[in-house]
Amino acid sequence: MNKEPLRFKNGKFKIMLVGDLHESYDMYSDNAANKADDMNALLTKAVEQLNPDLVVYLGDNAGADNEMQMRSVISRILYPVSVKDIPFAVVFGNHDRECAVSLKDQMRLYNEHDNCYMFNADDTLTGYGNYNLLIKSSTSDDDVFNLWFVDSNNLADDQELSYYDWVHEDQIEWYKKTALELKEKNGGEVIPALLFQHIPVPEEYELLREAKVHEKLDSVPGHRKWSDKNHVLKETVEGYLGEGPCTPCVNSGQFAAWKEIGDVIGAFFGHDHMNDFAGYVDGIMLAQSKTAGFRPYTDGCRSGVRLITLDENDLKNINTRMYHFKQFGLKAKSLSPYMENVTDRQDMKLKLAGTVLGAAAALTTAAVAVNKIAKGKK
Ligand SMILES: [Fe+2]
Ligand SMILES: [Fe+2]
Repeated sequence: MNKEPLRFKNGKFKIMLVGDLHESYDMYSDNAANKADDMNALLTKAVEQLNPDLVVYLGDNAGADNEMQMRSVISRILYPVSVKDIPFAVVFGNHDRECAVSLKDQMRLYNEHDNCYMFNADDTLTGYGNYNLLIKSSTSDDDVFNLWFVDSNNLADDQELSYYDWVHEDQIEWYKKTALELKEKNGGEVIPALLFQHIPVPEEYELLREAKVHEKLDSVPGHRKWSDKNHVLKETVEGYLGEGPCTPCVNSGQFAAWKEIGDVIGAFFGHDHMNDFAGYVDGIMLAQSKTAGFRPYTDGCRSGVRLITLDENDLKNINTRMYHFKQFGLKAKSLSPYMENVTDRQDMKLKLAGTVLGAAAALTTAAVAVNKIAKGKK
């Protein structure tokens, strides 16, 4: 790849994550133009204020019926980033397979933009868009950090086993082989790395615990094999759990491979539009970036981006936080006043509970009053 290498600047490297835009060519139905405007406003403001060195699109990015349409949609989602000539990388999500344009053609369209750093490292691997990007030091040409981009595929062939597919054995072997080659080039030391892919690993459930009875209102049921319980985040986990993580039900050993090689210090996922939590499992950060879009299911003004700031002098320390739409002082064109005000599903549940309790209290008062009147009539 003939691009300027990624490089720390003054000891820092900032990565902005953009999850699940689900942007599409249609601009006429279902408030689509306003939703596209809100997405554009969020990305424009985020890029301007956070000034990232790399933007990563986390999959379920764009849909279209033909190449002409897809080129237009890709240009739309890239515009706030491309106009500032900020490098970007992409992983594909399950829904990126649903459109009429192949992943190979989509990658070619992304690469029509000079600031695209996405490529396919090995045509023989399962999926499309498995690759890594190295980051050089501020002060030398040494590669000091690595970024993995992995295609988490689509739906499982055997739906009895798992709804979602998983990262396959050949992809894990490619990761291990490449990481060990980098280690050898680096004098026998692994290069610390972050990993980006669309569908999270099943180990995310280790960040959750079963909800107690009084927590039911704030809890979510798990996905498929975890659906017998309601979950909340463990106390050590930051952020928000809006839905049961929709991971594969099969554990392919991807997380175990990260532990075995020892380079991955954090992995970042999209796919679950409502989740934006971050916590550690066995010393590896697992973090969600919720949707930055307004087209897919979302919870109003909490659509947002995640920023990761790496420090060249402390490479194993991950500094990350979410920035939600409202925090940028933006006003959404596509949301009703109610969704503009209610900022997440927990608030909605609590408000609903408050309304039900309020209504019950009002009915009781009314019943007592009627009773008194009735008694008075006697
Ligand atoms: Fe999605
Ligand atoms: Fe998805």
